[in-house]
Amino acid sequence: MDIMQAITERRSIRKYLDVPVEWDKVGDILEAGRLAPSSGNLQDWRFIVVTKQDVRKKIAECCPGQNWVDTAPVIIVIFSLTEKVKKFYGMRGERLYAIQNCAACATHMILAATSLGLGSCWIGAFDENMLQRAVGLPDNGRPQMLLTIGYADEKPQMPNRYQLDNLTFFETYGGGGAGRIKDIGRVLWDQNVVGRAIQSTKETVSDVERHTKKDRESIVEKAKEKLNSLKKKLNKK
Ligand SMILES: Cc1cc2nc3c(=O)[nH]c(=O)nc-3n(C[C@H](O)[C@H](O)[C@H](O)COP(=O)(O)O)c2cc1C
Repeated sequence: MDIMQAITERRSIRKYLDVPVEWDKVGDILEAGRLAPSSGNLQDWRFIVVTKQDVRKKIAECCPGQNWVDTAPVIIVIFSLTEKVKKFYGMRGERLYAIQNCAACATHMILAATSLGLGSCWIGAFDENMLQRAVGLPDNGRPQMLLTIGYADEKPQMPNRYQLDNLTFFETYGGGGAGRIKDIGRVLWDQNVVGRAIQSTKETVSDVERHTKKDRESIVEKAKEKLNSLKKKLNKK
């Protein structure tokens, strides 16, 4: 699966089928986490893979109001060895990088899960001390997030997201709207005009292969028109 497709299709799943997850898929998800970026390449994350029903139940009890958590056949606890990050980066390491490193790791894992046809949910709301006891974390380990993994038994709609032009500023933060691009979609489209021209040509070639000789001439004509209009746009820039 293409990375943008995984990013777009991933949803938080809170209802799972009672079907075990293949071990090779769990392995791929862990591998995706292992390969995430981390400050100074410290890789201060550690993972606990939980599949046993009684341990999953204990974990669910650490997550207030989230009884569904133990319905996931696999739960991955991601914790950081905060002392390690603190040693290299002081308070900033402990307070910021330890969290960011595990977040990068979790993001890799949930996208890998999507690409493998699995559902997942990132859980940040849990009682740290209870969780520490439930899975026997070491004193120097701070749980950062849980990931539930399994085959989805629901298909949630994409929740609303802000438009890019409400989130993005160029060069400096433009309080009151300064520095904002009115129509960022349009700007990105124009920037990518060459990429689109290549894509359009590829589509045309495959269309031509599929059609009769008579049809081909009109397809080629249409393609020429399309390319000319793209060229005009490019020249305007
Ligand atoms: C830091 C963080 C903490 C989260 N904690 C929880 C949680 O405790 N329980 C839960 O059901 N979802 C949790 N989520 C999932 C979000 O609710 C979800 O990502 C958001 O509603 C957007 O939906 P989507 O993931 O389907 O795009 C968390 C997500 C993040 C990034």
